[in-house]
Formats: sequence, structure tokens, C-alpha cells
Amino acid sequence: MKAAKWILVFLFIFSQTSVLSAQILSTNPTIENRIESLIQQMTLDEKVGQLNQINGISDEIKLQVQQGKIGSILNIPGAKVTNEIQKIAVEESRLKIPLIIGLDVIHGYRTIFPIPLGEAAAWDPELAQKTAAMAAREARASGVHWTFAPMVDIARDPRWGRIAEGSGEDTYLGSVLARARVKGFQGNNLADPASVLACAKHYVAYGAAEGGRDYNTVDVSLKVLREVYLPPFKAAVDAGVGTIMSAFNDLNGIPASANSMTLTQILRNEWGFQGFVVSDWSSIGELVNHGIGATLAEVGKKALLAGVDMDMMGFAYTNNLANLVQQGQIDEKVIDEAVRRVLRLKFMLGLFDRPYVDPELEQTVILSQENLDLALESARKSIVLLKNEGQLLPLKKNLKSVAVIGPLADNNFDPLGCWFCQGQAKDVVTVLEGIKHKISSDKIQYIEGCKIQGNLSGNIDKAVAIAKNAEVAIVVVGESAWMSGEAYSRSSLDLPGHQSDLVKAIYETGVPTVVVLMNGRPLSIPWIAEKIPAILETWQLGVQSGNAIADVIFGDYNPGGKLPATFSRTVGQVPIYYNHKNTGRPAAAEKFTSKYMDIPIAPQFPFGFGLSYTKFQFSNLKVNTEKTGNMTQIFASIEIQNIGNRIGDEVVQLYVQDVVASLTRPVKELKRFQRITLQPNEKKLVNFQLDANELGFYNQNLEYVVEPGQFKIWIGPNSTEGLEGSFEILD
Ligand code: BGC
Repeated sequence: MKAAKWILVFLFIFSQTSVLSAQILSTNPTIENRIESLIQQMTLDEKVGQLNQINGISDEIKLQVQQGKIGSILNIPGAKVTNEIQKIAVEESRLKIPLIIGLDVIHGYRTIFPIPLGEAAAWDPELAQKTAAMAAREARASGVHWTFAPMVDIARDPRWGRIAEGSGEDTYLGSVLARARVKGFQGNNLADPASVLACAKHYVAYGAAEGGRDYNTVDVSLKVLREVYLPPFKAAVDAGVGTIMSAFNDLNGIPASANSMTLTQILRNEWGFQGFVVSDWSSIGELVNHGIGATLAEVGKKALLAGVDMDMMGFAYTNNLANLVQQGQIDEKVIDEAVRRVLRLKFMLGLFDRPYVDPELEQTVILSQENLDLALESARKSIVLLKNEGQLLPLKKNLKSVAVIGPLADNNFDPLGCWFCQGQAKDVVTVLEGIKHKISSDKIQYIEGCKIQGNLSGNIDKAVAIAKNAEVAIVVVGESAWMSGEAYSRSSLDLPGHQSDLVKAIYETGVPTVVVLMNGRPLSIPWIAEKIPAILETWQLGVQSGNAIADVIFGDYNPGGKLPATFSRTVGQVPIYYNHKNTGRPAAAEKFTSKYMDIPIAPQFPFGFGLSYTKFQFSNLKVNTEKTGNMTQIFASIEIQNIGNRIGDEVVQLYVQDVVASLTRPVKELKRFQRITLQPNEKKLVNFQLDANELGFYNQNLEYVVEPGQFKIWIGPNSTEGLEGSFEILD
């Protein structure tokens, strides 16, 4: 047992000041004076107007903008339209306060990058920062000031369609990418014409919806909330995120959009968040459905007092806050403070000084070659090689005949994925087109084979006939863009429609078969995983989809992506995630252990897993600790050598387990990673450094503690393999 007498209580979560946040949201006396002077001139209705966000544009909306009743509009991208409505705000409204224009720029504006879950598979924060920055540049040029991204919800249940929008199941990976994306969107200066204000969403624990059903109830312990769901938001706040979106879900009985513990106590008092909170779409109004208030007035009051500054499409603030103040139910000072927060960001975005955008810039920035190059890089890096028996991949370019089959093979819409913003199908390179860039068209036979969904079996027979005459078959199957994202939860993780039949029929011809998966969530593909020799997970890769996939298929790029979420064998195994607890009866061959009787214990593909066309050898793990005063540092290093004959990327992953603690701890937790590139035969020493205060957990009093004692450490290529070492944190 560890010495319970000596528990290091690290209140660093509470005391760590948000350094970057302080930089981005620093109090500027000039701005503060301008804000105060405006607030003094504002009527109560005008103040409430700043807290009101409306969708779209109409004559009625224009009138309300003129009357100062709207502070923000969402979903009206484009230089022309945004300039037009902004003109009404800054030239025709009494106080000339500019609007802030918001949009869901989730994985690109017009140049569409991989869906966030796909990009998470690249394990490359620099890349995530770059794609976010590129998306910001395009969006801002089109008059968009504010993106509702990054989505930083941890998702351990792939039935939940919104897993596609985030970074997957792991809190550490999710936090690193949250930070990178915030920095990418916001840059160093919000007034820069290439920056947009970011919004970390959906605060909080939205991804823990029961049964993976969207909008469903969330009931998690405060410990799990603190250890699993809150850290990516904390990372976003530390990176200076300007806004936070309060979620739809019930959270332990108090819906997230009326939860003062999360919105005020944690976000503002503990973390020092200085930006503003916007509700999710009508989530304030929906508090009536949750049953915590009978009227919009009642729930509006609850949301405001809990800490939601702006009401997105809930109509609870606009119609009621002024009355509530007049009735003495709300102190006007609460409204003033919310207005201050909104105005502060409008000033920081430079909107008072430069409210308009240049329509010509919009034309040059959007879909530029530079953007397309980045889209290709991000798409290639996001691809995960799941299986490659007999080195079937990469294919040779001198093949005499290739059959390209499947409903996603020549599909230019679904690779855009959910939230494709201003993306257009015509910008997308399909897999078939990508393959045509590698080998001549007369050697390629293409057929759809079947539809993505539905009962029609399609022309599987014809696909079989084509496959029989080919040297290799490439079958592209998966989900449509509309099968993941908001409101697209699934009760099954199987390939939809007749796609499994199609794959089986092609396999049975005996022709060597490559399966290319395109999907917005981990799927369950036990038969394919067992029988098909080569499998690529390509998510939904955006505009450069086909080029990236063909580069991988024909060996012009060696895949190095790793799964950001566990792939189960069947939906019945869900929730399944790598950093589970051990239980008293860890799963084993024996009967009375924690497992299902009808499937193997292990997942189909573990978290962090992905192969390469080359091989990497890990050796010489070294671990030591250094203690200075009360602080202990852990230093770990490992050598990695490329022992194959191709250049390739490896994602070196470091996991830790607290072996004995006063509360049960996960079997392992990711703490560091690094994606490296190695030439054939090249060897690199990879060093990691950790602070002991990153190894703690929340005890029963919800204090963050690091307990002295023994820790295990693994460094390897995924969550189940690697070299094992240990270290001790001393009293
Ligand atoms: C979604 C948010 C999104 C908002 C605005 C909501 O339905 O949950 O993620 O940002 O709409 O489009």
C-alpha cells in the first residue's frame, strides 16, 4: 500500500493561471473604457440584444439589427451578405455596435480537410493547428468572425454520431488537439484578418450520452467528469479560447446549459475563463423540456444566472430578460457583465474598427493551391493501415487490370463528411479519380456494386464479373456523410446496406482484395478483419480524399496514422476503451472473469493501432526520475529504428499506470506521443519528459492528488504493445 500519510495535493488545476488565455483576452484599458462608455449609453433592450444570437437573414432580422436587438448572427457566410448586414449594424443602429458572425467551421471552410476524428488519427498537433489556421483564413475572408469549433467532447461510444466531430476516446490526445486547434483558429491576434474566434464545445460531457443516443441524459460521477470530460476544455481555456458553448445534455440532474457548477464555479472561478459562453442551439429553451422550468422566462433566468452569456436561437433572453430585471428578479449588473464579455471580444476582433471584409480577398484565399496542398497532407497523414497480409499493399503501378468497386469509390459528396461547411462535391477528388492519376484508365474497371444504405442489393453480380477479370479489386465501402455528426447516432456499427455482401462476393472470387473504409466512426467489421488481406481506414478525408488514398494504395505515401478510438468486434462490446479499470476479475480465459462469453476479449483494433509499409523496432527503454524540492520529473527515452526498406512514420506512444493507489486507476493512460519520420535503417532516440503532477487523479474529496509509489510505463506503437519499464514517485 502506498503511504496514505503522504499524499501530495496538487491544486495546480485551480491555481495554474491561464497564461495564454491571459495573453489573448488581456484586459486592455482602452477597450475597457470604450466598453464602459457603451454600456452607459445602452438601454436595457440594447443590452439584451447583445446577448441574442439569431440564425440567417430576413427583413425582420434586418429590422431587429437596426433596432439593436441582435448581437450575433450565425449561418450567413460570404463577404457580400456579411458586409450587407454589418452595414446595417454599424451605420443604422443607434450605437453602431458591429455584429459578430458565427459559423460551424469544423474541418475547413471551403477547402475541406479530414473530419476531426480522422485528423486525430494523424496524431499530429502541428497539422491540426495548420488546418485550423487555414480554415480560419478562408472563413474570415468570407466575413465569418467566429467558429463553433473545436468540438472537444470525449466519446467512448461510437454509436454516438458526433464522435466524428471530435478527437475520439482519449482525454490526453483530445486535450493536445484541443489546444492546437484553438491556437490554429485564433492565431496570436483575433483582429488579424486570418484569425477567427474559437468556441470549445459542447460543455460538458455531451459525449457521455447514455447508449450513445444523441441529446440523451448524461450521468457521470464528478470524478469521471474531472478526469475524463473536463480536461480538453481546460486545455482550450489555457490556450486562450474566447468562447465556450454550453451543451444540450442533462448533467447529473442539472442540464449543462443551466449548470452553475460547471459554467461558473469551474469555468470562471477555478480556471479563470474570461471569454463568453454561448448556449447550444435552443438549449436554453429546451430547459423547459428538461423540466427545470415551466416557462422561457424561468429557464432564461436560470441559464443566465448559471453563466450562459449568449442565447443561441432559444428566444429566452430576448423576450424575457428585460422584464425579469424590471421585476427585480435579475440584477441588471449580471446582464452588464455578460454584455461586457461579448463587447470585449467584438473589440478584440477589431470589429469596431474594421467591420467589413474585402470581397476580392475572399476570392483569392478560398481553395488556393496552398490550401489544397495542406488538404492533401492532412488526408494522407490521417489514413490508418489496419491490415496488410502478405504485403498486398502497396500495389504496383504496372498492374494490368484493377477493379474499383463500391458505393464510395466514385463518390464526391460523402468524403466531405459531416459539417462540410461551404465544401462542395465538385471540389472532391474521388478514389476512382485518384487511382486514374496513378494508372491508365483503360486498365481500370469501375462499378458501384450497391448503394451505401437500403435494401436494394444493386448489381453485386456485375461487380463479381468485373472482379473476376481483374488482378486486384479495390472495394470502397463505409458510411455516408449523413450517418455521423449531429443527430446521427446508430444502433449498429456494421457496414450499412448490402455492402458486407458486396465485399464477401468480391472476396469469394479469389481475386486479391483491398478494402478501403470510409466512415465517420469506428465500425465493427469482424468478417472483413478476418478475411480481407488489406484494409485501409480512411474516415472522410475531404477534398483531397482520392489523391491521398491513391497515394497510399500505390505506395507514393506510406501510411502512419493510428486509431484515436477503439474498434469493437460488435456493437455489444461498446462502450470499449483502452483506459478502462482492471476490475476484481480482469478478463482472462477462465470462466469467472469480466468478459463476454461469445466473443474474444480484445477489441478488433485497439486504440493507437496502425501499421506501416515498413517495420519499426523499439529498443533500449530507459526511465529515470529526478526530484527537486517537491517536484518530481520523469525522463523516459527509447530507440526506434526503421528496419524495413521504406521511409515511414511511427507514432511513439507513452502510457503510464499507477500500480497501487488509494482509488482504483485505469490499466494504462496515454501521457505523451510523438509522430516521427524515419528513413530506411535510420535510428532515432526519442525522449519524453513528464511532471509527476500529471500522474494524479481526483480523490474522494475531489482534490487532485499525486500519490507516491510505483508506476508502470510503456513506450510503443499502440496501446497494447511496447516496452515496459517502471519508476517510483517518492514521498
Ligand atoms: C450543434 C452545435 C452547432 C450549432 C450551430 C447545434 O445544433 O449542436 O454543435 O455549433 O448547432 O450550428
